[in-house]
Amino acid sequence: MNVATSSDDIGDKTPHVNFSLEGKSALVTGAARGIGQAICAALAAAGADVMGLDICAVAAPNLTYPSATEGQLEQTGKLVEGAKRHWIPVKADIRDAKAMRAAVERAVKEFGKLDIIVANAGIQAYGPLANTSEEDWNNVIDINVKGTANTVRAALPHMLSRKYGRIVIISSGQGRHGFKNGSAYSTSKWGLIGLMKSVAWEVGKDGITVNCVEPGLVDTPLTRNTGRWRELIHTAGKEAPENPTEQEAIAASAPSSVMGIPWMQPDEVAPAVVFLCTDAANRVSGACLDAVAGESAKWTG
Ligand SMILES: NC(=O)c1ccc[n+]([C@@H]2O[C@H](COP(=O)([O-])OP(=O)(O)OC[C@H]3O[C@@H](n4cnc5c(N)ncnc54)[C@H](O)[C@@H]3O)[C@@H](O)[C@H]2O)c1
Repeated sequence: MNVATSSDDIGDKTPHVNFSLEGKSALVTGAARGIGQAICAALAAAGADVMGLDICAVAAPNLTYPSATEGQLEQTGKLVEGAKRHWIPVKADIRDAKAMRAAVERAVKEFGKLDIIVANAGIQAYGPLANTSEEDWNNVIDINVKGTANTVRAALPHMLSRKYGRIVIISSGQGRHGFKNGSAYSTSKWGLIGLMKSVAWEVGKDGITVNCVEPGLVDTPLTRNTGRWRELIHTAGKEAPENPTEQEAIAASAPSSVMGIPWMQPDEVAPAVVFLCTDAANRVSGACLDAVAGESAKWTG
């Protein structure tokens, strides 16, 4: 880094616009499908080797959408290997701190080091707080908050020892505003922003950046279901049928969307994650990057 010598010196005159991740290695949780799969593919396309970790099983009872499978995790591996990058699949539960430490140790051993952590795994459940059972509440908080903290904590000793690291936590637009009938999820995603800002402060002098990406509504198995479509129609201020169709969800939500779309695709979130993992983003930490198709234009701050 060149130090500015006068008030009209901008520092280094060679712009740092190399967004390559060549030579880097990453661990991504929730890698079997959806946003996690797109992040793995994008990191590999940018040059990184990738360990993709997923539970590949029922993460919690009472979820209204199907579980990810080992076959889906294999598909992620094909995308990473298609980009000619080293791929390591791991079946583990982010709630298991010991398993997360073992995954990091294996990544360090096989990749030689671990530069990037993307804590993406999460679940979503709905229901007014008054009707939310303690079990459902605990499952959302346990996976989304404790599991994410486990993921970050497992990687920190290695990153601190190298004085280098890029940590990206996947929060949500629903961590930036209230979510009617989704208090446990919204609480967990707001909580992740607090986690991110606290850890960013703790490790800021150690060459480690910590940031959040908040996806908007993204078309994945987590959202491609009648339960989520019903909430979408409610949010648009309309009466929702018990089992709305995709077309009814689109008709209700697209007109009020800033970009006029009902939802985004996973590959439209992944580039925001890649940017935060680059050396070019070395002075971006403690920040929220909303990849929400413009919906943040409606929020304060
Ligand atoms: N889809 C959206 O609209 C949206 C919007 C904002 C934020 N998000 C967040 O993005 C992340 C990815 O969501 P998605 O839409 O791709 O969902 P998804 O359900 O398609 O994928 C989530 C993955 O995480 C895995 N997972 C869940 N619990 C786990 C655990 N305990 N241990 C290990 N793996 C586990 C699942 O098996 C699954 O493969 C989540 O944190 C979600 O909250 C999603």
